[in-house]
Amino acid sequence: MRSLEDGLCDIVGKARRGLNLTEAAVADAAGLSSRQVADVESGRLVPDEAAVLRLACALGLRGEALAAIARDEYRPAPVNLELWGSVHVLESSYSGYPVNAYLVWDRQTRRAMLFDTGTDANAIRQLIREQDLALEAMALTHTHRDHIAILDPIRSEFKPRVIASRKEPAPGAHFVADGEQIALGSLSVEVRETDGHSPGGLTFVVTGFEGAPPVAAVGDALFAGSAGGARVSYERLIENIRSRILTLPDTALILPGHGPMTTVGQERQNNPFAG
Ligand SMILES: [Fe+2]
Repeated sequence: MRSLEDGLCDIVGKARRGLNLTEAAVADAAGLSSRQVADVESGRLVPDEAAVLRLACALGLRGEALAAIARDEYRPAPVNLELWGSVHVLESSYSGYPVNAYLVWDRQTRRAMLFDTGTDANAIRQLIREQDLALEAMALTHTHRDHIAILDPIRSEFKPRVIASRKEPAPGAHFVADGEQIALGSLSVEVRETDGHSPGGLTFVVTGFEGAPPVAAVGDALFAGSAGGARVSYERLIENIRSRILTLPDTALILPGHGPMTTVGQERQNNPFAG
């Protein structure tokens, strides 16, 4: 089973930096020393459960969820993609670091949409051939390099429409905004703006699968058990996660840009950043 993208150290650091708090301020609020907070963030220290709960409280995180991650106990249940039959994860490596892209298609018309690119053009090419698909569009959750590394070669080979936010423009892209619906055969793709990790971060919610719940390609807004780094706005990121991702049905499948797939229900319970 794939391990989580983030551990206690990453989560505490992301929350503290997001809230613009000094190590000393968090240490004060949590009854630790600044050195201990620094050691937690560097992974040298996993404090006892009471201290983890105090840290969660000081950082506005869900205590039980953070404690379970500190004990290395949370793993989302493995996902059986056969239930959808037309959702495929493409895991690749960018500078030695794993990144996810996803291909989703309509089973009747074989029209497909690629969510981000990852770095492995061969895997995408092979899947498109094997499944006899027409790559109609490439939707960008955001434009950090690891997510769009092979945009140009995929675009020149398959000529898909590129869908992106105006706030993170890719050349020649069709710009979409919150609430827009894009048809993909019998499937429907809803655009939700989930900025905060990046200025124009988008989540794409795909509905219309026969006998299977919606899937949401969230990019780096949300990870199983964590969230992306708030490079633009922590407040916006957290608000977007809570109001635009975790309000989907519990059974909705979350397709994150890094780490394992998960569901809305599991993240509402187990993600320290869930409200
Ligand atoms: Fe990113």
